[in-house]
Amino acid sequence: MTLPPGAPLAADGRSQRPPSASDSSRPAFPDQPGFQGGSEISDPPLLSALTTFRVGGPARRFVIARTEADLIAAVRAADARGEPVLLVGGGSNLLVADDGFPGLVVLVALRGFAAQPDGDGLGAVASAGEPWDDFVVWTLAHGRTGAEALSGIPGTVGAAPVQNIGAYGAEAADVIASVRVFDRQRDEVRTFTAADCGFGYRTSLFKQTPDRYVVLSVGCRFQPGPLSAPIAYSELAHYLGVEAGQQVRATFVRSAVLTIRGTKGMLPDPGDPDTWSAGSFFKNPVLPSAQAVRLPAAAPRWAQSDGTVKVSAAWLIEQAGFSKGYGAGPARLSSRHVLALTNRGTATAADLLALAAAVRDGVRSAYGVTLEPEPVLVGCRLPD
Ligand code: EPU
Repeated sequence: MTLPPGAPLAADGRSQRPPSASDSSRPAFPDQPGFQGGSEISDPPLLSALTTFRVGGPARRFVIARTEADLIAAVRAADARGEPVLLVGGGSNLLVADDGFPGLVVLVALRGFAAQPDGDGLGAVASAGEPWDDFVVWTLAHGRTGAEALSGIPGTVGAAPVQNIGAYGAEAADVIASVRVFDRQRDEVRTFTAADCGFGYRTSLFKQTPDRYVVLSVGCRFQPGPLSAPIAYSELAHYLGVEAGQQVRATFVRSAVLTIRGTKGMLPDPGDPDTWSAGSFFKNPVLPSAQAVRLPAAAPRWAQSDGTVKVSAAWLIEQAGFSKGYGAGPARLSSRHVLALTNRGTATAADLLALAAAVRDGVRSAYGVTLEPEPVLVGCRLPD
């Protein structure tokens, strides 16, 4: 990638783009007047203002980084002080302790998309702070397909490679060609090709090596439209009235995915506490096949290429007795999808962790499977 550090990408086409699912889900805070990029904010916010869970105590220090230069400078200075750093994008995959964060919180607000010439002319690059879903909209508006099944995922472009976001049979690794980062250990900007990113199910080198890499921008490679990638998720194929493996207009896939996500409460809506969550709270467990065969035949499962079996965490949770809406206090399971823990307004991180532990323990005693959290837990952990 050849973007000069500190230069925002050309905002090609942004003024014409239709509203996207993530527009309403972004924390309003960073765009409020009075906040200057790059300089420290003297009155740091509560992390609850920056996360879709709406929990988390205060940041000790806070900076909004609108350019790569500001971002690198802020992180470098904190590293020199020996102060911990928390990078926040859309705040949609974080559960932050009620005590807050005892260091520098950097809101990554680098913006811009650009077409990137490559062999077939279907590359594109996006800055880390762009909402992921805005990028999906941009790709479809610019004749690029491959990300349409990843529509409506909250969070930013910079977070996409870290957890290798995925949905409806697609994952970010399918389209990512390269990731440009600031390497805090080597104190230099580096570009990783996709093959070097260590992508796996909801994981990557960047997630496996916390506190080392700061994503600056992501380069992707797409297919020419208008047809989608082959439909790889049976629920989506059924909704579209096609067989798995078929292709339809990519914009139809986007609409279908947004509708399905909406019915499951997986489109953050500021007016609906049923969506105040971090999406799926648990990963779908990946089990040795000898363990998976001991589960009831009705448990949805997906054979993996390495012989392991991915099992539906939602099914295990529901069958273990945690129905939709489970919980008595302000932390409850979503009434539309048991995999999402939700904050009904006044939940604390401790409330959510207690609920998560109850669900984990219930599934473990019913099925002998230990569910692992999917969001990043900051300064807190599930009670034993
Ligand atoms: N199910 C239930 N109860 C529920 C919901 C689902 O029993 O309340 C069962 C159903 O039998 C269904 C199966 O679980 O067939 C799978 O459900 P779903 O299609 O909703 O997908 P998921 O496995 O629960 C995963 C991702 C989501 C992604 C969807 C769609 C993980 C941890 N979650 O959920 O990603 O949107 O597939 O592809 O992989 C996220 O990671 O935050 C996230 C939302």
